[in-house]
Amino acid sequence: MSLENVNTTPEIQRRRTFAIISHPDAGKTTLTEKFLLYGGAIREAGSVKSRRSQKHAVSDWMEIEKQRGISVTSSVLQFNYNNFCINILDTPGHQDFSEDTYRTLVAADSAVMVIDAAKGVEEQTKKLFKVCKMRGIPIFTFINKMDAHGKDPFELMEELENVLGIRSYPMDWPIGSGKEFKGVYNRRKSQIELFDEGKHGEAIVDSVTGDVADPKFRELLGEYLHDKLLEDIELLDMAGDDYDLEKILNGELTPVFFGSALTNFGVEPFLEAFLDITTPPQPRQSNLGPIATTAPYFSGFIFKIQANMNPAHRDRIAFLRICSGVFEKGMMVNHVQKGKKVKLAQPQQFLAQDRATVDVAYPGDIIGIHDPGIFNIGDTLCSDNIKLYFEGIPQFAPEHFMRISTVNALKRKQFLKGILQLAEEGSIQVFRPHLTGTEEVIVGVVGVLQFEVLEYRLKNEYGVEIRMTRLPYRFIRWIEANDFNYDTFKGSMDSTLVETPEGEPVLLCEFEWSIRQIQERNPQVILRETHLKP
Ligand code: G4P
Repeated sequence: MSLENVNTTPEIQRRRTFAIISHPDAGKTTLTEKFLLYGGAIREAGSVKSRRSQKHAVSDWMEIEKQRGISVTSSVLQFNYNNFCINILDTPGHQDFSEDTYRTLVAADSAVMVIDAAKGVEEQTKKLFKVCKMRGIPIFTFINKMDAHGKDPFELMEELENVLGIRSYPMDWPIGSGKEFKGVYNRRKSQIELFDEGKHGEAIVDSVTGDVADPKFRELLGEYLHDKLLEDIELLDMAGDDYDLEKILNGELTPVFFGSALTNFGVEPFLEAFLDITTPPQPRQSNLGPIATTAPYFSGFIFKIQANMNPAHRDRIAFLRICSGVFEKGMMVNHVQKGKKVKLAQPQQFLAQDRATVDVAYPGDIIGIHDPGIFNIGDTLCSDNIKLYFEGIPQFAPEHFMRISTVNALKRKQFLKGILQLAEEGSIQVFRPHLTGTEEVIVGVVGVLQFEVLEYRLKNEYGVEIRMTRLPYRFIRWIEANDFNYDTFKGSMDSTLVETPEGEPVLLCEFEWSIRQIQERNPQVILRETHLKP
């Protein structure tokens, strides 16, 4: 049966697609697991990462992630909750992978920022928040670890404003903290929600809810906590920001939730409010204007490519965000950038370490498709009679450069293959010097840890050992020009010209001030700070 004419609205309406960001250790993995627990996707939390010695999370695929205890790549999980179909995009917490985070955010409609109540806004929180801000999507804040000794909630809100520059609206308010963390006051429903300690977070917690004035709560909480709560609520109502849905949806006001992912306290109130406030997938910008999710044809774009997710299979997966229409397994689509028809065979969805074949998917969904080496980040796929392309995904400016070669000259072919494949995944950017032959490769990265990943992956996945020599350049500009002429271009002592694999000219500089001089000396070209792949 063809699904071209099926009414997709109910499926689209129930979809929510968000990215989850945090400084490492704030509790992103634990919270994600609890979402799965509440959605019924796993029966017992802790099943994936209860053993301290083997700390690796639901979404950690790569060996290097396990070794270093950081999340290098971002993964995708789908689950259902209260008839909502939720797609979570996990993002790497480490700043060196902020480019990957940005690409993931392009595929998300909102972001959840997890903050450790004791540490407040941390270094990586700031960097990831900045990336979120660039996307202009709604940002929800979950202040985690309220069961441990943490900062004062008012202080945390002040930090959001002073450090991140975003106003906040507490959707709920913690009742007690540390060992005395009893529950939350839900401001929208004007009701108290007290949690039962239950099974230490392994199972869904029971709660008692009711009016704050109900005498039973005074008894349950004791006079001190109850009085403090009443005072806090009054203060928030008087001095805090008003609830403003428009500002929230524009990313100008962050709704704040307090809880403990470990004990499950506050996880459900968060999920419910989040699903209520966020919108289903929205229209996406394309060269033909915004494309409605209900458009009568299939369309989507690739935002991430991941090679060798399963070393046993040596496969490569392209992650596709569906923007309109219905995706069906085995469908023929138009690969717009390549001008080719492609059959989308072996589509997959992801849950923890499992992959399941997907037969049908809707706007908002993320699916993985087998990539025989034809996809690039930013590519658009459409029903085969349609030709449109979505706004591209910019490449960030790398800040670190190395000259790289293979130790064993006989492995040159594998070396180039590995380097180019990793570049297509977007984790590194590859250049070659102009006019010095093709023996050398220059690699640029946004964060230095990428070099380590590169070295590790080339060795483990391609059997190639490399030699790396650091280059002094810190700044890059992509050169836009009609008929660029290398001979007449006036550079500087601290700069060099290189080329992208597609042959586009690129300027590398040691000092930022010399970029201005070079621009003045070469008014016929434009020096660009970010770049859209052709
Ligand atoms: P991340 O993905 O953001 O890096 O954080 P992750 O969930 O891995 O959590 C980091 C540590 O913080 C873990 O402890 C985890 O158990 C703990 N944690 C998460 N949420 C809470 C919470 O609400 N309260 C408290 N008190 N701790 C929390 P770990 O000792 O590193 O690992 P594990 O052995 O407990 O798994």
